[in-house]
Amino acid sequence: MTQVLDRLHHEHKQISQLLDLLDDILAGFHDGREPDYEILSELLQYMEEYSDQIHHPMEELIRERLRLAGQHQGYLDVLTRQHQALNEMTLNFRQAVEGVVNGEVQRRDQIEAYGREMVATLRAHLDLEEAEAFPLARRVLKEEDWAAIQDEVARTIDPLLSETDLQRINTIYKHLSSQTRA
Ligand SMILES: [Fe+2]
Ligand SMILES: [Fe+2]
Repeated sequence: MTQVLDRLHHEHKQISQLLDLLDDILAGFHDGREPDYEILSELLQYMEEYSDQIHHPMEELIRERLRLAGQHQGYLDVLTRQHQALNEMTLNFRQAVEGVVNGEVQRRDQIEAYGREMVATLRAHLDLEEAEAFPLARRVLKEEDWAAIQDEVARTIDPLLSETDLQRINTIYKHLSSQTRA
């Protein structure tokens, strides 16, 4: 009855791949190469939307059940705060990239710093969830908790948005990947 957790874990693997790609893009950018800024900004927009409307809300449902089960570990607070911080970091990076698209003068080191900050924080965030929060949820939550989470996901998460976003992210990933790693 832990489909939600399996889904989140699967999404983490996909996000990790995106982070590896962003690392490669930032390394190229550092060496003076120009990524496809428009597509990069589109990718960041989808990552923001997916996190904000699908991935984070599902994790917060688990968090809520853990709280109801009497679990108040400090790292759970850290993860929730990071969700908010990550939204802002992704937005900062995306706005810097969009600035380039719109012909604004941007400092390259600032764009790179926004990107590196977002990638490093998101990677550490995934690691903390995989190492602590998910194992805790598997240990502590009961069949009825998972059923309640599943019901809430079905009620609140838009499956169409999820499907469209994932397809689009996948297409962009392939495009940027072939460009960056050619
Ligand atoms: Fe998270
Ligand atoms: Fe996550």
